[in-house]
Amino acid sequence: MKEKRGQWNSRLGFILAAAGSAVGLGNIWKFPGKVGANGGGAFLLTYMIVVAIIGFTVMMAEFAIGRKTHKNAVGAFAMLNKKWKFAGVIGIVALFIILSYYAVVGGWVTKYVITYLTGAQFGNGSNAYATYFTNFITSPVEPILWDLLFLGVCIFIISKGVSAGIEKVSKVLMPGLFVLLIGIAIRSVTFPGADEGLRFMFTFRLEDLTSDMIVAAVGQAFFSLSVGMGILITYGSYLDKETDMVNSAKWICILDTFVAILAALAIIPSVFVTVGPDGLGMGGGFAFVALPHVFETLPGGIGHIFGLIFFVLLLLAALTSALSILESLVACVSEEFHISRKKSMAIMVIPLTLLSCGYSLSQLSTRGINLPWFDFSNGFQMLAMNAVMEKLTDNVLIPLGALAFCIFVGWVWKPQNAIAEIEQEGVTFPLKKAWSFSIRYIAPIAIIVILYFTVVKGIV
Ligand code: PFF
Repeated sequence: MKEKRGQWNSRLGFILAAAGSAVGLGNIWKFPGKVGANGGGAFLLTYMIVVAIIGFTVMMAEFAIGRKTHKNAVGAFAMLNKKWKFAGVIGIVALFIILSYYAVVGGWVTKYVITYLTGAQFGNGSNAYATYFTNFITSPVEPILWDLLFLGVCIFIISKGVSAGIEKVSKVLMPGLFVLLIGIAIRSVTFPGADEGLRFMFTFRLEDLTSDMIVAAVGQAFFSLSVGMGILITYGSYLDKETDMVNSAKWICILDTFVAILAALAIIPSVFVTVGPDGLGMGGGFAFVALPHVFETLPGGIGHIFGLIFFVLLLLAALTSALSILESLVACVSEEFHISRKKSMAIMVIPLTLLSCGYSLSQLSTRGINLPWFDFSNGFQMLAMNAVMEKLTDNVLIPLGALAFCIFVGWVWKPQNAIAEIEQEGVTFPLKKAWSFSIRYIAPIAIIVILYFTVVKGIV
């Protein structure tokens, strides 16, 4: 069954929609945690270099493939060179796993929206926020209910069609998120004692330049920019010929990195002030533990309102990203198997839900907590399913996908064909020589090196 492909309504709409896909939980939930766990300044600098060189390179390649073929990732490769279909498939597998855990964290955000709506009672004591968060994510049923709600909303929205919703939401969301994050960051960096956190974030210490840190920076950059999974091929496929892809890619990289750094500025200094340097190991819980504290310190009870607005915006950011993933999965399955969008959604729902529940439950097993009706330590270990899922996508599947895109565009399809696609309707690509060199040598070699590190060290 052939369904009509949409197009973005405006050029700004495209940038906003792609930025809507890029800006999400990766920036606010993952990034500050990674900065904290990987030594601060060294990670930050490596991250920015990776975004500017490798991230931008792969992003341009994906846009060019997408607009050339007007197909989803798998279909695009099937059209340009059948042997390379696997490159699209790697991305699709990564997206599937990502969506399953993204929905869990999206569910956590939904819970916090409701918490703020109903009065934000986190309890007392210096550990109140951390205790509240840990108790919540390690309760067996509640996080799964929020997870299913989040997933259900995504499925509902996607079954209504492509760009319209995503574009509209992003137009309000991006400026709102910026303004609020800037405000929160200012509050956080002006706490007495915040300078220690700032020094941590902006001091480059050579001893932090480790292979683990570099792997984390590359994985995080790809995840955050939404590159390496073919999603931007799908986005490019909805582009018209007049759109300047170079400018769009530049802005998406800048916006995404800006939001991530703002989030780290909002969170890390306040972690130093409240918990001290030991809090840096908190990882994924950062946003949920540190930010409520920042809100509480605002005068006259406006903290609750700020908290509510912030978590609503974060929820929208998570939704636009999750929607971009689901849209890509649905477009791919329905176009490749020639079935309707509804049917392709139906095929995915059950495995997606099961994987998602596994991620949620592994929050218990990895903390040594058993279910009332199930003893994890008894034979069946859920391993560190959460860590495995995140590292498998960030450090293995996404880099593998990105590597395949680089080799395909650099050596098979050839950079000049991609450049011809990029330079249409008077658009020029001033960096085309550097980009050709990067897509053929710099990006693939860098990715091979980090894949080597990952293999040598093991996934978890
Ligand atoms: N880039 C998104 C984030 O940083 O939250 C996550 C994401 C969206 C990953 C879309 C992959 C994707 F295809």
